[in-house]
Amino acid sequence: MRATFTVRLISASTTYAIRNEVLRPGRPVKECYFSGDDSPGTFHLGIFKDEKIIGVASFMKNSNPFFEPIAQFQLRGMAILPEHKGQGLGTLLLKEGESKIKQEVKEPFLWFNARVTAIDFYKKHGYESFGQKFEVPGVCEHIVMLKHLESKNK
Ligand SMILES: CC(C)(COP(=O)(O)OP(=O)(O)OC[C@H]1O[C@@H](n2cnc3c(N)ncnc32)[C@H](O)[C@@H]1OP(=O)(O)O)[C@@H](O)C(=O)NCCC(=O)NCCS
Repeated sequence: MRATFTVRLISASTTYAIRNEVLRPGRPVKECYFSGDDSPGTFHLGIFKDEKIIGVASFMKNSNPFFEPIAQFQLRGMAILPEHKGQGLGTLLLKEGESKIKQEVKEPFLWFNARVTAIDFYKKHGYESFGQKFEVPGVCEHIVMLKHLESKNK
């Protein structure tokens, strides 16, 4: 029987185990609690293979002072379990997040601190990098990436 993949809204606490395994392996799970996880406007998506969660992404109403104070969202904690990478599931999560944001606000703008190892994944989805690379201590090198999302409400 073929596996069914579904993307669903989940709670912040449901993201922690996957964030921990993929983004902070071997570190205390508390390092996977992000500021803004429970703020109004934040939503979390999980991708499920049948009933097992295999990837997560979080979208927060959070403005980067470098950009215009328009409807900014920040993507955080994008993670697909290693055994499921490269199957189009990160794409499904990102597209669903973009789609929900576009339904919610006019002229939305999505930015994030991307791991340099994932830059090409985001470029394939139309994101561009901004500014200089920087080190997130204890994690790895990052760079800001961004995209103006087209709005249905325009
Ligand atoms: C980065 C990540 C979220 C991408 O999700 P994924 O499900 O593996 O990606 P997809 O299968 O949807 O890939 C879509 C395209 O991007 C490419 N791609 C995916 N990850 C890539 C990477 N790290 N570098 C370059 N290209 C990548 C794929 O080859 C695919 O290309 P194609 O359309 O030409 O076939 C996932 O690999 C992951 O969790 N990585 C580890 C944690 C991480 O880096 N998270 C991002 C933090 S900013």
